[in-house]
Amino acid sequence: MRIFSGIQPTGRKHLGNYLGAIRQYVAGQDRGESIYCIVDLHAITVPYEPSELSRTVLDTTAVLMAAGLDPQRCILFRQSDVKEHTELCWLLTSVTAYGELGRMHQFKEKSAQQRDFISAGLFTYPILQAADILAYQTDEVPVGEDQKQHLELARDIAQRFNARYGLTFTVPQHRIPEVAARVMDLQAPEKKMSTTGGTELGTVLVLDEPNEIRRKFTTAVTDSGRDIVRREDKPGISNLIEILAAARGIGPEEVEKEYSDAPGYAGFKRDVGEAVVGLLAPVRERYVQIRSDEETLEETLARGAERARRIASETLKQGRQRMGIGSGPSRAVPSS
Ligand code: AMP
Ligand code: TRP
Repeated sequence: MRIFSGIQPTGRKHLGNYLGAIRQYVAGQDRGESIYCIVDLHAITVPYEPSELSRTVLDTTAVLMAAGLDPQRCILFRQSDVKEHTELCWLLTSVTAYGELGRMHQFKEKSAQQRDFISAGLFTYPILQAADILAYQTDEVPVGEDQKQHLELARDIAQRFNARYGLTFTVPQHRIPEVAARVMDLQAPEKKMSTTGGTELGTVLVLDEPNEIRRKFTTAVTDSGRDIVRREDKPGISNLIEILAAARGIGPEEVEKEYSDAPGYAGFKRDVGEAVVGLLAPVRERYVQIRSDEETLEETLARGAERARRIASETLKQGRQRMGIGSGPSRAVPSS
């Protein structure tokens, strides 16, 4: 089975990324052939600092390796190093409906955040994402809840291409975790945790120091009651229950049971903080060491790109041929 996922380049990865996605990438290494890509070409669809981009790619590479990705057991690479992604993206634009793109939640959200310029790249972003996935004949894509719609679009694109040009792409499935698929901001639990749209105090970074993590959990917004249960009118507590369950690897109902006699929220919030410190502190420690060796990081990405290219170029060759692009068997002039 082939597993693929992509992640935006930034050193500011947060607990939502970690529980919703990164942990499933690590687990993927034991479940199949795993391929992970740092999507710098997606990052340029919103305003960004060119002089920082290559550094943030290395930050993300180091976070992923610190979290447990092992380049011996997976392919880890930078999207822009494998040009097949951009070419396939263009081919797929012809089987993507304009109307579908306009319905994407992420486009609506991100375009609303732009003050004076909405790039066309932000609009076509999901086609590049589909190209990332389809280039590797991917069976399964580990992602958080927020990517579900993009994955459905990638499936539609694959199916439409296959129907129009003949079977070419594997139709991918998303893999969304049962708990913590959508980690919410600790200060504004109606919003998902995010480094762009969230609050500073409500966003726990993978690289936060332990005391910073503790502080963010003790100050997390709850409600005026005392019950530690998941309920629609208790978004803050519900979020903390999910986080603790995911951190301990148990079900949320077990957390509710354990805290059914709790006298209030203070001890519970402290426990959630400690569980998260236990999860992230070792990642932070490994990160410092891994990030300091840029040469090895660059080598890892270069080797990953080479391996990725071998797979992607094969898919692209088939796609081009089916579409009648370039000189291929379908364009051969019949000899007389
Ligand atoms: P990004 O940093 O936007 O590239 O996201 C990387 C991965 O983290 C994607 O699979 C997202 O679905 C996932 N993710 C992002 N935010 C959250 C969140 N608040 N809760 C759970 N998963 C998330
Ligand atoms: N759009 C994804 C996000 O914002 C990142 C991404 C790019 C991705 N290409 C991908 C995720 C391919 C899964 C598969 O998180």
